[in-house]
Amino acid sequence: MDHWSRSAVIYQVYPRSYKATSGSVGDLPGITAKLDYIAQLGVDALWLSPFYRSPQKDAGYDVADFRDVDPLFGTLEDMDALIARADKLGLKVIIDIVPNHTSDQHVWFQEALNSEPGSRARERYWFRDGRGDGGELPPTDWESVFGGPAWTRVPDGQWYLHLFDASQPDLNWENPEVREEFESILRFWLDRGVSGFRVDVAHGLMKDPDLPDWHHKSWMVSGQDETEAPPAPMWDLDTVHDIYRDWRKVLDEYDAMMCAEAWVMDDERRSLYVRADEFDQCFNFSFLSSPWTASDMQATIRSSYEANARVSATTSWVLSNHDVVRLPSRMGLAKTGKGPNGIYAHDPQPDHDLGLRRSRAAHLLMLALPGSAYLYNGEELGLPEHTTLPDKARQDPTFYRTKGGEGGRDGCRIPLPWVSDKPYAGFSPDGSWLPQPDGWADFAVDRQENDPNSYLNFTRTALAYRAKYDLGRQEIRDESGDGVLDYRVGPLRMIVSFDEETVVPEGWRVLLASSPVDDVIGTDTTVWLTAEPQA
Ligand code: GLC
Repeated sequence: MDHWSRSAVIYQVYPRSYKATSGSVGDLPGITAKLDYIAQLGVDALWLSPFYRSPQKDAGYDVADFRDVDPLFGTLEDMDALIARADKLGLKVIIDIVPNHTSDQHVWFQEALNSEPGSRARERYWFRDGRGDGGELPPTDWESVFGGPAWTRVPDGQWYLHLFDASQPDLNWENPEVREEFESILRFWLDRGVSGFRVDVAHGLMKDPDLPDWHHKSWMVSGQDETEAPPAPMWDLDTVHDIYRDWRKVLDEYDAMMCAEAWVMDDERRSLYVRADEFDQCFNFSFLSSPWTASDMQATIRSSYEANARVSATTSWVLSNHDVVRLPSRMGLAKTGKGPNGIYAHDPQPDHDLGLRRSRAAHLLMLALPGSAYLYNGEELGLPEHTTLPDKARQDPTFYRTKGGEGGRDGCRIPLPWVSDKPYAGFSPDGSWLPQPDGWADFAVDRQENDPNSYLNFTRTALAYRAKYDLGRQEIRDESGDGVLDYRVGPLRMIVSFDEETVVPEGWRVLLASSPVDDVIGTDTTVWLTAEPQA
């Protein structure tokens, strides 16, 4: 039997925004209280974004202690309780590991700041002398992904590298001590019962040790956007794979899995991460970034399967996460695809109805594709982006570091609505760390549970059929014609119409449709068809 992760549906929980038992930030006991809800969705596992001790300069992706829970979220005992309850419900727990950088409050970085240039403590990071007569210029011209320079100067004149915020110094993975420390961190959590890791910025750990100049923009999370730019000295270096071969050996002792967050847009390069002795999964960000057209989607699906087949891996489909504009909003923009980094109130606003219709169609497409799939919390509710957040409420460092040039990711991180007539839509009795937009309660879980046509019930039904027909493990055959996608997935047939209508083919019956269908499948609609007679 293949490893469970090859066909799993994994639900991403963003702890800050999931459910708060008190205060304005979500917490681990809140998540534990909602595990029954997660199990009822029909997913196999949950992935928790960081809950580690952290000053929260990048919403927890700035980790000060990888072996402890931030008091904001609870305690280690709360985490143990979460894992135990998940286990009872048959849910696996995957956690985020952030190996590219630490927080500037991590003991290692504090020690480095208090140590001499060239000291062992500084060798755990990338400290360098500056250029120019007095060393007043940064060692390279690299830009931070979050905007602004990727180097910050310390009082004794040296500079340290941070590909993200200045509070997130990059670790030096040439250093064996760093490697040992992370293997020990993996074991710490595996011993506590987690089933695997989502590896943050997996393609960024190794840097060209010569530190050559490279003056190109690495956009937030999309890695290198300019296809004509020379290979980046910090992204997707061949040497990065050795790290994961070592990790694989540790994980195998526990039968655990790992998934790479590697914003590598070339399918061949990305497939290298899922070779047999490395990752089990790598997010398919080509799929997430693909414009919503028949030809783009078809080409992405085909080339993803082809590239991964060469290394005998499946594909991990993903449409949303905590870094991109929420799907129904992205799908309602004039230009579909990965979308901008946030939407401002003064930007052209998404077409809500069109976006929702396409988003349902895209979900039904994704959930029939063999391989594994990810759902970001709130995706099952059809939550839109908050597109009118006041600037004073924004927290994402990308907003501040780009001086407002990019709105940032707060709009996809709004605390979830659970109960329509409770304060903060049932997220917390006390508050919400980001303001919820008007109408948020209309999306609340309690409302959707009672509506047979709701996004929630649609997602549950899709997941139930996916399980019944074992779609994650079937063979797929592409029989698409022009403008319409047509796939056989095991016993089922899936048709996705984009800007053209098409008729339901003879001999087939609609099992599930993303929008109402009679004999005609309307535009922006996906249907799952069966040849079985009606029971
Ligand atoms: C990843 C995370 C993102 C974070 C960044 C730096 O891309 O998904 O949220 O800001 O890494 O850790």
